[in-house]
This record gives sequence, C-alpha cells and structure tokens, in this order.
Amino acid sequence: MIIVVGSINLDLIANVDRLPEPGETVRGSSFTTAPGGKGANQALAAARAGAPVRLVGAVGKDSFAAEALALLRAGNVDLSGVGESFASTGTALILVGADGENVIAVVPGANDSVVPGDLAKAFLKRGDVVLLQHEIPLQTVEATLDAARAVGAVSVLNTAPFRVEAAGFLGKADYAVANETEFDLYGEALSLSGRDRPARMLDFAARTGRTVVVTLGGDGVLAATPEQFLTVPALRIIPVDTVGAGDTFCGYFGAGLSSGLPLEQALARAAAAGSLACLKPGAQPAIPLAKDVDAALAVR
Ligand code: RIB
Repeated sequence: MIIVVGSINLDLIANVDRLPEPGETVRGSSFTTAPGGKGANQALAAARAGAPVRLVGAVGKDSFAAEALALLRAGNVDLSGVGESFASTGTALILVGADGENVIAVVPGANDSVVPGDLAKAFLKRGDVVLLQHEIPLQTVEATLDAARAVGAVSVLNTAPFRVEAAGFLGKADYAVANETEFDLYGEALSLSGRDRPARMLDFAARTGRTVVVTLGGDGVLAATPEQFLTVPALRIIPVDTVGAGDTFCGYFGAGLSSGLPLEQALARAAAAGSLACLKPGAQPAIPLAKDVDAALAVR
C-alpha cells in the first residue's frame, strides 16, 4: 500500500503569454480551477500507476474542499485519513506562461493543521511505501519518517518546496527526491562536497547511506545510492504545462518501488510519467494513466 501524508489544495490557474516581472501586471488569456497540492497529486499519480493508496491530510469546511478532493475520490484513493479543519482549504495561485513554465504561491490553510497525531490515521505497516513532501508542518514530516522506519516501511521524501529547516532530516528518508534547484540549495545547507552535482549526490548518499534522486526536467533524472550512480532519460516532448510533473514522477516512483520494480526501472517509468504530465494543463487532470505510460515506454 502507498501511504501519502501531505497537502491538498485547490489550484487557481491563470494562463499568461509570459510570466510577469515583480511589480508588473500582465494580461491573462484563460483561468481555471483544478485539484492540486503536492500530497494529493502524488496520491493520485500513485493510484493511476495502479497502486492502492491512502491519503492523510486536511481540507477546510468550505466550498473549495469538494473540488479539491473530487479526482482523488474518482481515482479510488482512500480518503478516510483526510480530516476537516477550521482553516480554509489550501490554495495555490498559479501562473503558467506560454512556454509551459510556471510560478506558484501556496497558502497552506488546512494543510498546516496536519499534526504528528494524525499519523494514527495512516495505519502504517511493514512493506508500505510512504510518500512525503514539504507542504505540511515539517515536524509531521519528520515524525512520519521516524514512524515509517520504526515499522519497516519505505519512505520517499519529495523535498519540495525548499525549506532550509528540512535539511537536517533529509537523510532519514530512504529516497530523497529533489529537483536540481532544491538539491543545490540543500547541498549548500548540508555543506556537501564535490566539484559538481553528481559528486555532491554521491557525497549525500555516502554520508546518509540512503538514495538521492534529482529530477532535471527534460534532461531526465539522476540517482545516487551508496553503491551506484544512475542516469535515466526523460521522454522527448514539447511541454504545455509543467505543473505537477514532479508530483507525477514521485507518485509513479513510489508505486514502482511498491510493486517491486528495481530502482532503474522505477525511475524510468516515473520519468516517462512525469514527461507525459507536461502535455496537458493542470496538475491532477494531466496525470497519465498507467497504460499510456507503458505505451510511451514501449515506443521510446
Ligand atoms: O507541485 C504542484 C503543486 O504545487 C500544485 O498542484 C500546487 O497546489 C502546489 O502545491
């Protein structure tokens, strides 16, 4: 089983020709809302990859909550661990430029009410794969890493968004997944040594005894374990909207590990899924189905 302890948002998305500079106003061409939040996106990605998934999180008692949970419900994600908070449902204000790049501001709202005590709703057990991100209180993230280790579950920590306070516990995750910017910032915070990123990844793996994965967008994925270094390509695509691509990668990666795929195969399937997620607008609406990922891998 995949257990996600993480955020649930409603994404408010405006498309613009180009992203504005600070202090600048640009005209938008369209507006839409879609379910999002890194935790919820990863839960749905793991479910679409074919895994049974339980999500622990929180929404508000407001009109955004039902829409934020709609695709998770339709995707058969177990929502029994999702509580209701007096705070508003988390929201993300997202601008997407014509080149598919984005800027995002997240207002956590109810996500900030997910506390270590909520772990009781996770029913963690040996062999589970636990997916975590940094959009809920970091003390809950660290407590979940500890709980996962205690029961013999495998933990995958997506280190997004960058929060320097998290640097001290990244090494508790069996797999830390960062994008290149995040990894470089954590590398500075942890004083990783090495003249380039792969060398610093190997230093992290040697120091912690764990695996670090760095996603490079269209350039694929790198992974360092204490024993080996892997390079995995992305699919060659022209991105429409990259929102949620990293979450799709993490959800598929967790599902791959859960189904027993070797590391390199789990990374390759996740990288292909992340690429396909860039072909449609929105986070959750763009997460590909397993059959489409397998078809894309077969013709690569
Ligand atoms: O990773 C993409 C997600 O980040 C969006 O869905 C948004 O909700 C923010 O949490």
